[in-house]
Amino acid sequence: MNADPEVREHLGDVLNREQSDASVALFQADFDRRGYGWWAVEVQATGEFIGFAGLDEVDDGMPFTGVEIGWRLARSAWGRGYATEAALTVLAYGFDTLELPEVLAVTTATNLRSQAVMRRIGMTRDPADDFDDPAAPEGPLRPNVLYRIARGTRVRHSPR
Ligand SMILES: CC(C)(COP(=O)(O)OP(=O)(O)OC[C@H]1O[C@@H](n2cnc3c(N)ncnc32)[C@H](O)[C@@H]1OP(=O)(O)O)[C@@H](O)C(=O)NCCC(=O)NCCS
Repeated sequence: MNADPEVREHLGDVLNREQSDASVALFQADFDRRGYGWWAVEVQATGEFIGFAGLDEVDDGMPFTGVEIGWRLARSAWGRGYATEAALTVLAYGFDTLELPEVLAVTTATNLRSQAVMRRIGMTRDPADDFDDPAAPEGPLRPNVLYRIARGTRVRHSPR
């Protein structure tokens, strides 16, 4: 997944095995430290690993603070509603268990698939919150959008 240029299009360079494993080790360390983070996403019927979804503290240096939701799936798992299903579960955990007042989501202005997930789970964007990611190089990874959802406004997943 992390070696696939299509999956990494809006994230940065592809990762090799060592870099990908190191990122997972960081995920585990975050989980151990604070009790939440990036969960593995599996297809319920088969147990197949298809990616991850979860919550993270917004990086230092961003023009806002808070907890953000995110997701990343292998290309073969796109287009089936899996990201939305996982995101709704993560959102419920954030509001009901962690009792967060608000959840944020960030992506590049060009990542329309990710923004569609944000809208499907009831998040909204104020263009006044758009920002340039200070950690990104000049180019398409720099202009970012910010979506928000406050506790108490989340939508229920409607099966299709
Ligand atoms: C962002 C990402 C997770 C979105 O995945 P996705 O599969 O498009 O998102 P969803 O799970 O919401 O699926 C929606 C699609 O499934 C379809 N679908 C099929 N069955 C569905 C169901 N039961 N419920 C909802 N949607 C369903 C929808 O019609 C929609 O199809 P469309 O894209 O043709 O309009 C995926 O593109 C990805 O991993 N990208 C790379 C990593 C990345 O950029 N992550 C975000 C960084 S901020």
